[in-house]
Amino acid sequence: MNLQEPFSIPPPQFATPGTVMVRPLLLKPQWMNGLSERLLVSHYVNNYGGALRRLNAITARLAVLDWSRTPVFEINGLKREELIAASSVILHEIYFDSLGGHGDNPPTGLAEPPAGLSEALGRDFGSVMAWRAEFTGMAKALAGGSGWAILAWSKRLGRLVNQWAADHAHGLADATPILALDMYEHAYHLDFGARAAAYVDQAMVNLNWERIGARYRLAIGEAAGEDELFLPFGAPAQADARISAEELKTSLEDHEDRRPFLLDLCLPRDLLRRTDMLAGASMHAPAALPRWIEQLPRGRPIVVYCICGFQVSGTAVTELRQRGYDARALVGGITAWHAIGGTTVPLDTSTYEEG
Ligand SMILES: [Fe+2]
Repeated sequence: MNLQEPFSIPPPQFATPGTVMVRPLLLKPQWMNGLSERLLVSHYVNNYGGALRRLNAITARLAVLDWSRTPVFEINGLKREELIAASSVILHEIYFDSLGGHGDNPPTGLAEPPAGLSEALGRDFGSVMAWRAEFTGMAKALAGGSGWAILAWSKRLGRLVNQWAADHAHGLADATPILALDMYEHAYHLDFGARAAAYVDQAMVNLNWERIGARYRLAIGEAAGEDELFLPFGAPAQADARISAEELKTSLEDHEDRRPFLLDLCLPRDLLRRTDMLAGASMHAPAALPRWIEQLPRGRPIVVYCICGFQVSGTAVTELRQRGYDARALVGGITAWHAIGGTTVPLDTSTYEEG
């Protein structure tokens, strides 16, 4: 399996044939500008993760379907649900990728589209401001219902379009979405109640224009060449220093001797954000690493995870690998683990000592 793939665009990626792998969050959910961690993580785990799990279940069902004997209403139902789930997965990935700051910095709300995209918006809508007015107006018009506001590139029309979508599977035939704003109630209700317009305005000041610009360049056929934009901040750059949630799940089902050793790393300030952990993991503070590093097993793979798979696990994995351990960081952290439906146990901090 190519572990590099989760960070190249476009998704999806495959663990085993037919399995679409989870994409990690690139935004830092605790440091967004007026969108709460509770809202973003619930959306990612339950709605994006739910669509992903549904898609993989439907795919598995279709793989064994007897097409000549199955009643047409079952075929219609499965193919309809497959389209809805796949489109939901793809649009949610574009949505989450489109939000967030740079590294540890929260979004400022001041950034503008990069030059190429800015010029294209000016060409196709008159100005960036005119595009923004149409896009936000279209999104706000979906308030009280559900759907997506999408900025997409249409090769046939030769322009960027603001595309209205009443549901996940509603799209302009040849359009490639580069920005998608989720207008389903689950995207905002926890923070904004029924105030969908306030959510739209807040989402707009959390946009990550660098990643949206990279998607635009990919859509028009220019090489994106910016895969690092789609790598979680602080995650190890080398593919063999990372492990996907799906791969970890498979390896934990292996014989006890071959299962990886699980290391749960958490900054002291983040302990209050945690409620659970992977079964069998031991939890430590990253700063206490010198105290326990020599106790780690040498003949066994070590999987290190943190909340979202950013620099907490990334830095530790780099250190462990420099010392000769077979360590890998869990892509997307325990949050991605939750999204694929991985089981957990209540948090146990008995091994935790601050550095
Ligand atoms: Fe959603």
